[in-house]
Amino acid sequence: MARFPAAWLDTLRERSDIVQIVSGYVSLKKNGKKYWGLCPFHGEKTASFSVDEEKQLYYCFGCKAGGTVINFIMDMERLTFPEAVELLAERAHMPVPEMERDEEYERRRTQRDRLLSANREAARFYHQTLFSPAGEASLAYLKKRGLSDGIIRRFGLGAAPSEWDALTRHMLEQGFTLEELRLSGLTVVKEAENATEDQPARPRRSFDMFRNRAIFPIIDQYGNVLGFGGRILGKGEPKYLNTADTPVFNKRKGVFAANLLRKERHLDHVILTEGYMDVISLTQYGIPGVCATLGTALTGEQAQLLRRFAPEVYLAYDGDSAGQHAILRGLKIMEEEGIPVRVLDFPDGLDPDEFIRRDGAEGFRKLPALSSESYRIRRLRDTMDLSTEEGRVAYARECIKIIAPLDPVAREGYLKDLSVQTGFSREVLLAQLNLTPLPVSEAPSPNRRPDFPKKKPETANEILRDEITKAQETLLGLYATGLLPEDLVLEEDFRDSELKFIYQDLRSGTSVSSLIEQAPDEESRSRLTGLLISPHAEGTDEMIRMAQECARSIRKATAKQRMADIQAEMAVCQDPDRRRTLLAEFQDLVSRSQLGP
Ligand code: CTP
Ligand code: MN
Repeated sequence: MARFPAAWLDTLRERSDIVQIVSGYVSLKKNGKKYWGLCPFHGEKTASFSVDEEKQLYYCFGCKAGGTVINFIMDMERLTFPEAVELLAERAHMPVPEMERDEEYERRRTQRDRLLSANREAARFYHQTLFSPAGEASLAYLKKRGLSDGIIRRFGLGAAPSEWDALTRHMLEQGFTLEELRLSGLTVVKEAENATEDQPARPRRSFDMFRNRAIFPIIDQYGNVLGFGGRILGKGEPKYLNTADTPVFNKRKGVFAANLLRKERHLDHVILTEGYMDVISLTQYGIPGVCATLGTALTGEQAQLLRRFAPEVYLAYDGDSAGQHAILRGLKIMEEEGIPVRVLDFPDGLDPDEFIRRDGAEGFRKLPALSSESYRIRRLRDTMDLSTEEGRVAYARECIKIIAPLDPVAREGYLKDLSVQTGFSREVLLAQLNLTPLPVSEAPSPNRRPDFPKKKPETANEILRDEITKAQETLLGLYATGLLPEDLVLEEDFRDSELKFIYQDLRSGTSVSSLIEQAPDEESRSRLTGLLISPHAEGTDEMIRMAQECARSIRKATAKQRMADIQAEMAVCQDPDRRRTLLAEFQDLVSRSQLGP
């Protein structure tokens, strides 16, 4: 893969001032060293989106979106990197040069690119198979599920033939290796088996992961095919097979149909379902902005991804009891991540696909989007008996707990309903409310950022690890300013290999901007930007002092960590030689920690 010459990109960035470009989309105000505004990537009422003129980076302290001016245009206009570069180049009246080859860059990107192109080729193969004799059964199945040709093509659905190696043969012909097929999860390798009494020896062999299944390609917002889901044609187990995690695919990070979400503009909410078929079916009925998790429970990372597409998320899970439980867990995740969320509660245990085929798009649009409180109260009501006095008391108490964190205006409607349902007067309910302590974490506090509570480390070891990571991150941020004297920061200060790599790259002259632009995925881009934009000390002297402080605390915390490990080993170790070695090391660590500044 080729890329734009680094020096030309530097000039392009210089001529595309980030404050000016971002101002075209977001109204910015200067406060301190940074410009601030409302984040265009997630809904918010207080500004946590910052632009750092000096570093020419943007970063949202709320949703953690961040990067260079090129990344901003990518995210804003939903373009690929080269497309964003072309847009900026045109604006700056700079002709776009020939792409050039870069060995180092290629080496790093090669495996990922190879696996992605293997996936793309496989998707093409499955899609073509669907319309060939080998795909007849899959096509008939998808048609029976009510899918039109148009929607089948829009989602690039496919068919895996029933032979054990149809895909493998095709891919080998296209120049992919068995190792690449294994790494991309397109094949599974069965280990060699020794001969037994009733079976001859079998060599190690590889066969297609998906056979005789309808194929759902999982495509990210940049159009990369990350993996596949394969549905059995009819009844049987497992109903769906999914690509295992690979170097390019992580089920906990992506969502199904991100490629289509990217193309939707001005969505006011994203609809998150549990199933591939739900997404496809709703889309066929003309519902925009639908996607699905990939066969696992919703994660914080997926929640953060969704907020990039719309300010609010609707959970549209199955209406059965498994779905209801998943919604309650999903609500918790969304709230932890600070993302506005509502629920579509499907009647009669139906899933979204079944519901829209029964009640049509009209029926779907009429479903109320419930607030998380309404949804919780609805579920509570299912389990409680309101025909008895005790039942009504218990119900009222539980409902009050649910609405306690809301502000008085938001509570009012709930109180009225509750009063009607239970027969308690509004005054009694209010009195109960005043007796209900707010859970500490949910108590609204004026200076809490719309930002997301971090998980607190639990054990002493985790605290130490956190401390070491934090110090390394600060140190790296300081180093990245380029203002510290040579050799103040050393490679050995970085124990975390990811941070060490970044240090090495910076050290060898890669610019902060190109490092960020080369991040392999959005998560590492956001982490990197966060690291490099984080507020640093004023003035070089103060920065030097901080860097020294960080290096010292890394050494100290690492020593403490080692001491804890030694103590743990001593507690179980019987071997006198080993005990002596450990003790010596321990004493050495103690004396050094007492000596050292
Ligand atoms: N799933 C899975 N493995 C299974 C079953 C389900 O990974 N054995 C995942 C798939 O991502 C699927 C989702 O869970 O899309 C929802 O599963 P389910 O509700 O059982 O299926 P439906 O979406 O209703 O699928 P269908 O309509 O095809 O029966
Ligand atoms: Mn279904």
